[in-house]
Amino acid sequence: MTRMLIIGPPGSGKGTQAERISERLGVVAISTGDIFRANVKGETPLGIEAKKYMDNGDFVPDSVTNKMVRDRLSESDVENGFLLDGYPRTTAQVEYLDQILAEREEKLDVVLQLTADDEELVKRLLGRAKETGRSDDNEAVIRHRLDLYHEQTEAVVAKYAERGILTQVDGIGGIDEVTDRVLLAIEAAKAV
Ligand SMILES: Nc1ncnc2c1ncn2[C@@H]1O[C@H](COP(=O)(O)OP(=O)(O)OP(=O)(O)O)[C@@H](O)[C@H]1O
Ligand SMILES: [Mg+2]
Repeated sequence: MTRMLIIGPPGSGKGTQAERISERLGVVAISTGDIFRANVKGETPLGIEAKKYMDNGDFVPDSVTNKMVRDRLSESDVENGFLLDGYPRTTAQVEYLDQILAEREEKLDVVLQLTADDEELVKRLLGRAKETGRSDDNEAVIRHRLDLYHEQTEAVVAKYAERGILTQVDGIGGIDEVTDRVLLAIEAAKAV
């Protein structure tokens, strides 16, 4: 049973690695970005609201995101653990998640941070833009997402570091190479 977070700047490979961790550890991977994108595609009220923020690279308001995560974490497939990708991204979201977990008498085992420098990330995301055409993958919006990561999400990382559950992994390199590092880091962190 593992309950963990994967945190990293846009383009650091969170989604790719989350899928692999999910397979290996047998826990469900939950990506807030993917849930929002599915809602945008389905033109649900949540999607229509979220799109206003996502296209500009802004965070969807905490009130909206927090409720969505609470609902998702109440589903039965989460009983055997979970891997949250893309949440929490603000310190207010950290407090909200703390509250959800406290109510359930659960705690996080590991918080994994994937690191990569901004120039590498911009290069990767511009490459992805050509392939997938995500509406938030153009240079100005990418830079804004990176700025928000530095301004807000690094404070989230710092909180988990203070709690002693943070483990950092270099996200630069081949996908398999990074997966090997990630799985080793999780094992090492869980053994503590
Ligand atoms: N926890 C969150 N709080 C607020 N907004 C969020 C949150 N998670 C996702 N979003 C919204 O969804 C968008 C896409 O999120 P997603 O995690 O897919 O992308 P990313 O981290 O920018 O890049 P990548 O997919 O490359 O990891 C964000 O820019 C934001 O608008
Ligand atoms: Mg992603």
